This record gives sequence, structure tokens and C-alpha cells, in this order.
Amino acid sequence: MNESTSANVQTPASNNPERLLVVSRESSDTVQTPPPSDEAPAPPDPLPAARTTAAVKIYGSGETQVCALDEVSVNFEKGCFTAIMGPSGSGKSTLLHCVAALDTLTSGQAFIGETDLCTLSDKALTRLRRDRVGFVFQAFNLVPTLNALENITLPMDLAKRNPDKDWVDSVISTLGLGDRLSHRPNELSGGQQQRVAVSRALASKPEIIFADEPTGNLDSRAGTDVLQFMRDAVDNLGQTIVMVTHDAAAAATADRVVFLADGALQGEMHNPETEEILDYMKILQVDQLALHASEDASVT
Ligand SMILES: Nc1ncnc2c1ncn2[C@@H]1O[C@H](COP(=O)(O)OP(=O)(O)O)[C@@H](O)[C@H]1O
Ligand SMILES: [Mg+2]
Repeated sequence: MNESTSANVQTPASNNPERLLVVSRESSDTVQTPPPSDEAPAPPDPLPAARTTAAVKIYGSGETQVCALDEVSVNFEKGCFTAIMGPSGSGKSTLLHCVAALDTLTSGQAFIGETDLCTLSDKALTRLRRDRVGFVFQAFNLVPTLNALENITLPMDLAKRNPDKDWVDSVISTLGLGDRLSHRPNELSGGQQQRVAVSRALASKPEIIFADEPTGNLDSRAGTDVLQFMRDAVDNLGQTIVMVTHDAAAAATADRVVFLADGALQGEMHNPETEEILDYMKILQVDQLALHASEDASVT
């Protein structure tokens, strides 16, 4: 786990080589591409909580075909808070859904721990989603008729599993909702509801939590609370979190930011600062505009 929380690091980037881009955009096609071989390559050591190798996702066919993921190989280390950023339509949600077993790849592989998702039956995928993965959506998706505590334990109640009481207690004490646990979602603020949704994802002690724009529906103060809660879950409870966001300040809460553009991995930053992320996003957006302009010119 990373000791220096990025949001608190004040030293300029140039003084801290740890925070430099470690995958340059120019060399992204040479990064992490497994060598051609008949045998499956050995898994990385230590084993990441989740990873993809040469992940491709194509939607549609013919003229309307979209390549949402273009050979993405990325590791999500255990105990690390990773943010995924990129322009709108760059494949962030697709990557998250495919590695969280909510969608399937066209080719390549996605793993949770050592489990290759494409080898699993539908039943085994359902079990994996229930037992090993947590997911947090932009819309909080709480059950309106249940109170906060009942929402948190619902997935385990449905699976007829006994929650690990000590663990659930530690999640709830980190949650900071105090006496509002008996309140229904409509009696809680947006930020409180999303913290309940993150607690629900945490309660079954999953190996990894995926969150797609978890602060997208929140004002900045409530968003900050949710991000702090996720940060605490990583720092104090040892969780692994992968979060898609388009907000540079939210991404700066993470230990690491992975950048996507046009479905391809562009680079990554460790212990990022908001300004550095914004600067890099500007470069990506300008590159994307230039690329699309040259494509348009070659068509006409
Ligand atoms: N179900 C779908 N059918 C067709 N195209 C899709 C579908 N989902 C996403 N796409 C396309 O795939 C690309 C990546 O989408 P997405 O992963 O949602 O991007 P992001 O989350 O970065 O905004 C976009 O061009 C989008 O229009
Ligand atoms: Mg998205």
C-alpha cells in the first residue's frame, strides 16, 4: 500500500520521480504486451487483484463497429487505489465492466486474482460477482424500503451468508454515519447514500471494488466525503479499489491514475496531483482532436 497519500503531497513533481509518468504515450504499444507464445505466460508476481492482457472489446459490426478497448494490458495491484481517467468515450466504463465480470471481452483476457473470467460458466460468473467483487454505480442503487444497515448487509442476506461481524463493524465504524444507520435512503443526503453503497460493496470483504463515476451525482463536498471514505477503506481496511472518474481532483485521491484514450492505454501516474492530471488530460484531448481531424481529412 502506498504510504504517501497523493492529496497531501506538496512537493513539486520534478522533485519526486515516483510521481512521473511511468508509461510514456509514445511507448504505450511496447508496454506489457505478452510475447507471442503457445504457452500461457506466467502470471505476474506478486499476483495483482485484477488484470487484463491484450483486452479487446468491439461493439457492433460493419460500418457502426466501435473498438471500445484496443489491446489494453493493465494490472490492478492489491491494496492500491487506482483511478481510470480519459476523455468521454475512451473506454473507461467498458474496461471496468469487463474486468468486473459485468461484460465480456471480444478477445484477450481479464482476471480476478488468478481466475481467467473467460473460462467461467454463467453460474460461476454470478458466484464470482457475488463473492469476490464489489461494484459501486454512479446512481447509488440502494433499496428505498430498507434502512442503511439493511442495505449494507442485503447482498449477504440474499446469498444466505453470515457476514463477518467484526469486518462489517469495522466498515460501519469507518462509514461515519453514526445513528443514521436506521434511516432509509430518502432520509440520507446523496453523499451519505453513496457511502452506504460503498459500504455495501465492502461488506462481503470482496477482493476488489470497482466504482464507475461514484462521485458523478454528488456536489463537491459530498464527493470529497465519499472519496475520503474510499481512501480510508484502502488505508485502514486494506481494500483494493479501481475507480473511473472524469474529475482530476477525485483521481488525485488515488495512489495511481491510469489514462485511456480511444480505447488504448496511454500512460499512468503514481501519487498524482490534480494539476499534473489536468495537464496530462489536456495533452490527451488535444492529441485526440488532432487524430480525429487527420482521420476526417483522409476520408474526405
Ligand atoms: N453497448 C454499447 N453498444 C455500442 N457501443 C458502445 C456500447 N457501450 C459503449 N459503447 C461505445 O464504446 C466506446 C467506449 O464507451 P465507454 O466505455 O462507455 O466510454 P467512457 O466510459 O470512457 O465514456 C464509446 O465509443 C461508446 O459509444
Ligand atoms: Mg463511462
